[in-house]
Amino acid sequence: MMQRPRRNRRTAALRSLMQETTLLPTNLILPIFVADGRRVKTPIGSMPGQFRLSIDHCVELGREACDLGIPAVALFPVVSDAKKDPRATESANPEGLLQRAIAELKAKVPELCVISDVAMDPYSSEGHDGLVVDGQIVNDETLPILAEMAVNQARAGADLIAPSDMMDGRVKFLRQALDRAGFTDVGILSYAAKYASALYGPFREALDSAPKSGDKKTYQMDPANRREALREVLLDCAEGADIVMVKPALAYLDIIAAIRQRVNVPVAAYQVSGEYAMIKAAAANGWLDGERAMLETLLSIRRAGADMILSYFALDAARALAGER
Ligand code: PBG
Repeated sequence: MMQRPRRNRRTAALRSLMQETTLLPTNLILPIFVADGRRVKTPIGSMPGQFRLSIDHCVELGREACDLGIPAVALFPVVSDAKKDPRATESANPEGLLQRAIAELKAKVPELCVISDVAMDPYSSEGHDGLVVDGQIVNDETLPILAEMAVNQARAGADLIAPSDMMDGRVKFLRQALDRAGFTDVGILSYAAKYASALYGPFREALDSAPKSGDKKTYQMDPANRREALREVLLDCAEGADIVMVKPALAYLDIIAAIRQRVNVPVAAYQVSGEYAMIKAAAANGWLDGERAMLETLLSIRRAGADMILSYFALDAARALAGER
């Protein structure tokens, strides 16, 4: 008797029964770039379909995401050069752009989970995630700045704060600061294994946040390393992370899979700006079917073991999935 795996693929109904992995709108988180002003919607050249949005537009987008079944948004502020300085002072402003955006979203779309980014780079005149002293990114002096930023965001109403800076010890430091300020219910989504990747280029264009000097290799991870990712993730879990994230996603599926096997907290993955740009550019040239490539890459990230995916495709994917049923 011959083994015939094709029997299980014969009809669409059979194929749907055999499906091992699902992709649902509830697995997705939409990143949003928040800008100053009213009715502002500035296209981002390297990310077709993505915009820098004023808060009023963010609220509309948040509503739309919610209606499509997407449970969360992740906010990144576009800070004007005039407000940037070496200490990221603006990040501690209770009336700052990101804080106002969080508060507005929680007021107007209360059922939406709001995740806010904790790192110095959008606010830093140096374009680094940590404090720069004599050309070095200093770790321990950065922690209090991050803590003040996180508490400020929690006070504005963030459900989860998401440190993306890769400083050592920051999850514990942030947890203690949040608890002391009374925010025991605000969770930490840690960018635990974040690689020094070429795929963040379009994001840095969107925020105008590229490092002014050097690169991020003394804090972000070497793409060659897997064991080190496990070390980072286990440390963050021990320090109190509620969710751990791998970033980027598609080039790091092995890392997602390895981490999924080792920890019991939820695992997130970030399909970053460069991943989005690659698919968009190829689709715009007619070189591949953009929608199918989008769904296939998202599904593969789920198959590797990610419970949730930050993706600029979140809205498009949710719409496509709704159409498929
Ligand atoms: C920085 C940060 C980056 C991204 C999220 N937070 C870029 C960087 O590390 O330079 C990238 C996200 C993307 O490319 O979509 N704190």
